[in-house]
Amino acid sequence: MKLEAKSLGWTARSRRIVQDVSLAVAPGETLGLIGPNGSGKSTLLRLLAGLLPRPSGTVLLEGQPLSTLSKRDIARQIAVVEQIAETSEALLVRDVVELGRTPWLSALAPFGAQDRAIVAEALEAVGMDHMARNSWATLSGGERQRVQIARALAQRPRLLMLDEPTNHLDIHHQLSLLRLVGNLPVTVIMALHDLNQAMGCDRLAVMDGGRMVACGRPEEVLTTARLAAIFRVQATRLRDPADGATVFRFQCREA
Ligand SMILES: Nc1ncnc2c1ncn2[C@@H]1O[C@H](COP(=O)(O)OP(=O)(O)OP(=O)(O)O)[C@@H](O)[C@H]1O
Ligand SMILES: [Mg+2]
Repeated sequence: MKLEAKSLGWTARSRRIVQDVSLAVAPGETLGLIGPNGSGKSTLLRLLAGLLPRPSGTVLLEGQPLSTLSKRDIARQIAVVEQIAETSEALLVRDVVELGRTPWLSALAPFGAQDRAIVAEALEAVGMDHMARNSWATLSGGERQRVQIARALAQRPRLLMLDEPTNHLDIHHQLSLLRLVGNLPVTVIMALHDLNQAMGCDRLAVMDGGRMVACGRPEEVLTTARLAAIFRVQATRLRDPADGATVFRFQCREA
């Protein structure tokens, strides 16, 4: 699924939150969004998914302006896991994941065996199948995060947008989630704070003060100069002797 943004921007109470972002994401690509707190990552993700009112600029999904598509049409293509997911507290885990099927259901196509199988598969993919009958309200932060990801998987999108998907997850689940996402045959755009994890993306877009200040291959984008200027850290590149992979060590630059 090809996604293109042209001069995308968003203003809230006369403050420019995101300005003049142009980018194209190729089918099957994984694009990481990185940047300091408040730099506009979540806002940009929401703009790319058509979730914010009155954007400036355009988003094209397979060449079609997002603004001409219905919410349902967009939801059949794009699934979003927000940084802070809101879900009715009264639901069971399985109910939350079933919500992912909503854009595919109609009077002529009610929830059926195939939907049930897709929901079961999504719960299994995030290791939450054993908790399907638990109440959402009783879940831990990491369990909630994994259920929200299962909901997005059950939506069977062609483009998956994830806002800090490894938030709340223990290290095993962080790595297994990133592997799961990397192996999906879909386009992925995700905001990440862990720059070592961001190295695994095909490309990285760097946000700073609402603008996209760089976009390219991780090793081109994550220079020590940029890490100092934008993230205000002293970065040392290390090499894992086992496989030659680059690993960063960060130290805080100022008092
Ligand atoms: N609806 C809104 N009204 C006013 N200001 C907003 C609104 N949404 C976001 N902002 C502001 O825009 C800036 C960017 O917010 P955004 O959530 O996109 O940042 P972020 O890069 O995702 O940060 P974080 O790393 O903390 O998640 C912040 O300063 C935020 O306070
Ligand atoms: Mg955010």
